[in-house]
Amino acid sequence: MAAPQITINHETEPRELLESQLALPLLHYLRDTCGLAGTKEGCASGDCGACTVILQAPDGHTFSVNACIAPLGSAIDHRVITVEGVGTPDALHPVQAEMVHQMGSQCGFCTPGFIMSLVQAELQDEAEDGSLPALSRTNAVHSMAGNLCRCTGYRPIIEAAQAARLSYTADDAQRRRLRNTLANPPAAQPEQPPAFARPNSLPALWSVMNEASTLVAGGTDKWLEVTQLYKDFEQVVDLNHIQELQGIHETDAGLRIGAGVNHSTLLDYFTHTAPCQAITDLLWRFGSPQIRNRGTIGGNIANASPIADWPPLLLSLNAELVLASAAGERTVALDDYYLGYKQTVQQPEEIILAVALPKTHTLAQLQAHKVSKRFEDDISSVMGAFWFSSLDQPLTQARIAWGGVAATPVRSPATEQALLGRTLSAITDAELSVLADDLANSLQPITDVRATADYRRAMCASLFKSAVRGELV
Ligand code: FES
Ligand code: FES
Repeated sequence: MAAPQITINHETEPRELLESQLALPLLHYLRDTCGLAGTKEGCASGDCGACTVILQAPDGHTFSVNACIAPLGSAIDHRVITVEGVGTPDALHPVQAEMVHQMGSQCGFCTPGFIMSLVQAELQDEAEDGSLPALSRTNAVHSMAGNLCRCTGYRPIIEAAQAARLSYTADDAQRRRLRNTLANPPAAQPEQPPAFARPNSLPALWSVMNEASTLVAGGTDKWLEVTQLYKDFEQVVDLNHIQELQGIHETDAGLRIGAGVNHSTLLDYFTHTAPCQAITDLLWRFGSPQIRNRGTIGGNIANASPIADWPPLLLSLNAELVLASAAGERTVALDDYYLGYKQTVQQPEEIILAVALPKTHTLAQLQAHKVSKRFEDDISSVMGAFWFSSLDQPLTQARIAWGGVAATPVRSPATEQALLGRTLSAITDAELSVLADDLANSLQPITDVRATADYRRAMCASLFKSAVRGELV
C-alpha cells in the first residue's frame, strides 16, 4: 500500500506522510517537519485563527481550516497552502501588500492567519472570468470572523482587505501563480492507512470500526483533546468520506440532513435553498469560516456538549436522529437522546447517520438567539430556541429549548404547557413577566467563567419575552 501523501504549496510532487504523524495536528507537521513557521500557534483551540491555512481537495475546491485542530490525516491527498505559498518577500500578494500599506500589522503574530482568511475569501469570490467583486465591510468582517488581533485593531485590517480588492487585476503575478497551482488539484488517494482509516461507505466503516476506534468528522472539538489534554489517538476513523453521511434531502416527512454535512454547507443551504433566517443568523455566528468548513451537524450533536448550538435549535423543531450500526438503523427523538453530561443513548457501535426535521415544524416559525461574549467563534453563555404554532392564534404547540443552562440541552415543559391554548399576542406585559420569571426559576444553570447562574436565568427570561412577542427574528 502506498504511503499517505500531502502536497505543500506549489510543489509538484506530493510528500509522503508517516502513519505515526497522522493523528497529530496539521500545524505541527507544517512547522516541525516542513519548517513552514509562518503559520503560527496562538490558542491551539480554534479560537484565534493564527494557524489558518487553505486546503485544496482532489475535486479542486479550496477551504480554510485551523491547522491547530485539524488532524494531519484529514489533509491526506490535499494540497495545503500556507502563508509561504501566497507571496514572497520580494513579491507580496496584493492582500499582503495592502496589509503593509494600510498598517494592518504591528507585532505580526496574527497577520499570516488574516492573510490566509482574506486570500481564501478572494479564491471563493473570484468569478470564472477572473473578475473579483468589491468586498463590503460586512463581508470583510465575515471573512475574518475567526481571526483575532490583539495589538493592531481591526479597522486597518478591514481597510487592507477592501483595498486589496480595489487594486485587483487578474494579471497580478502572485494571484496568477496561486491560480495556476490550484488549477492542478492533487490526485485522490484511495489508500486506507490503518492508523487513520478513511472509509467511503457505511459497509467500509463497519469493517474498520471497533471499540478502539476514535471517530472523527470535523474534529473541531475532539482534537482539543490532542492540543489541550495531550491525548494520543492511535486508531482514528475519519467519517468525512462516507457518502451516506452527506447530502440534504427533502422527503415526504420533511428534511433529512446527513450527519456529516458541515456548517458551511448548511449555511449555504439555509441561505439559498430553504431560506431560514433564524438558522442563518445562528450559523453566521457559529464558529468561524475555518470552523464551519470542518465542523459537522452530527459532530455537534454527538459531542453532547451542553453548550452546543445545534441541539436547542433542533429540539425546538422536534428533530429526530437516525442512528446506524452494522446491525441496522433506529430512529430516536432528539428529546430522548441526551441522558446526562456528555452521555447519550447512542451505543459505542452506533453513529449518527442523519438528522430528520419533520414538516410539521416549519422553519418560518423558528426563533433563536445565542448569547455569547464574542459575537462569532465563541461558546454560548445561553442559547434559546423557540417554536410556536402561531403568534396570533390560540397555541396548539410550543417548544422552548435551551443550551448552556443544564448538563444537557433542555426544554421548558412547564412553560410550554402554560402557553397552550393561549394567544401569545393577547398576553399582557404583566402576565408575560410572571411567565418569564417562572421559566427562569425553573432552570438551574451553573456559574462558570462565561456567565453567572443569575445572568443566565435573566437572559432566558429576556429571550423568552422577546420570542413570545415574535421579536427574535
Ligand atoms: Fe488559534 Fe489555531 S492556534 S486557532
Ligand atoms: Fe499583533 Fe495582530 S498585529 S496580534
